[in-house]
Amino acid sequence: MTADAGRHFLQIPGPTNVPARILRAIEQPTIDHRGPEFDRLGQEVLEGIREIFKTLGAVVIFPSSGTGAWEAALVNTLSPGDRVLMYETGHFATLWCAMARKLGLEVEFLQGDWRTGVDPARIEARLAEDTAHDIKAVAIVHNETSTGVTSRISEVRKAIDNAAHPALFMVDTISSLASMDYRHDEWGVDVTVAGSQKGLMLPPGLGFNAVSDKARRASEKAGLPRAYWDWEAMLGVNDTGFFPYTPATNLLVGLREAIVMLLEEGLDHVFARHDRHAEATRRAVRAWGFEVLAKNSAEFSSSLTAVKLPEGYDADTLRSIILQRFDMSLGNGLGILAGTVFRIGHLGDFNDLMLAGTLAGVEMGLKVADIPCAGSGVAAALDYLVEEARGETQPSPQRAALA
Ligand SMILES: Cc1ncc(COP(=O)(O)O)c(C=O)c1O
Repeated sequence: MTADAGRHFLQIPGPTNVPARILRAIEQPTIDHRGPEFDRLGQEVLEGIREIFKTLGAVVIFPSSGTGAWEAALVNTLSPGDRVLMYETGHFATLWCAMARKLGLEVEFLQGDWRTGVDPARIEARLAEDTAHDIKAVAIVHNETSTGVTSRISEVRKAIDNAAHPALFMVDTISSLASMDYRHDEWGVDVTVAGSQKGLMLPPGLGFNAVSDKARRASEKAGLPRAYWDWEAMLGVNDTGFFPYTPATNLLVGLREAIVMLLEEGLDHVFARHDRHAEATRRAVRAWGFEVLAKNSAEFSSSLTAVKLPEGYDADTLRSIILQRFDMSLGNGLGILAGTVFRIGHLGDFNDLMLAGTLAGVEMGLKVADIPCAGSGVAAALDYLVEEARGETQPSPQRAALA
């Protein structure tokens, strides 16, 4: 029997569930992108989005997926043959590295184990060796969506500063922005890359670059060819609220609503909510008797959890049972993790009862698939959520680290 009634549970780590408020906002007649109504919309979103990135600088919005925003970050700032330092945190870091190489950049890819984040000490050591300042950029992924590991951006910034190295600092926040604490200006990031389909609760289709003054200056000299992705073409007309080519008009209407919703809830509350759901999920995983893929508690992701299944069990079989029988989509293992892990997305427009339903779907799926569990993950997660609701628990490691 398959699930025909009720709603689908979209619990991949993005695209995420689009809330009704945003769907209603998007469902408007498309307006003239060169008319006065658009002018207001453009100015509002270009202003409002800065608060989400925590920047006073410019944010460029492309009609693109996150991959386009990756490309824009590189081609606007670098020249053919430039050396870039990247770090193998997982599948997405590997894809960004492959893109940089295709664009003609010389990438040094520091090897990782797909279970830990960027080691700031290794970045510092490599930059300190580079006394000729051949490395032009450090480009890393904040929240590695393939592993559920979050790298400590402020510590990587310190590492670059300790080495007194002038490299640009680029950070992919595609699965962390608006879900986990992120501070473009304070953490001295030059280009922050993001997408619409995760913490921003929108459908896919918008790519973002938050750009520092240093990155803008670098773009004046950067020699990689660029046309569609050219920041200057965008920033020139963005000043008046317009775009150089047809923007994704209705997605921008949705973005305006998303910004209002995030600021109404308060970014700190949004982050605390994600931390709480992540902690509840990890407790569920441990109660089932499985391992969270992320090794270090200081690097646990608050937007998704990658779960390692015991040897001999196939994660894709489990996911397909859960989809067919319980109508829930979970994330697959990507790259070298294929078949061995599944990923639970707990980001975006999400609450305690949606998490309870998600974990119940996983637990029932485990039973249907005859994968032995030590105990009830759902019970462990609910106990934690109840304790939290009573205000009895300690802050999660992430919140404690921030305090
Ligand atoms: C961390 C990260 N970077 C980059 C991408 C690529 O973004 P897109 O698929 O929107 O092109 C993704 C997609 O999930 C991602 O999670």
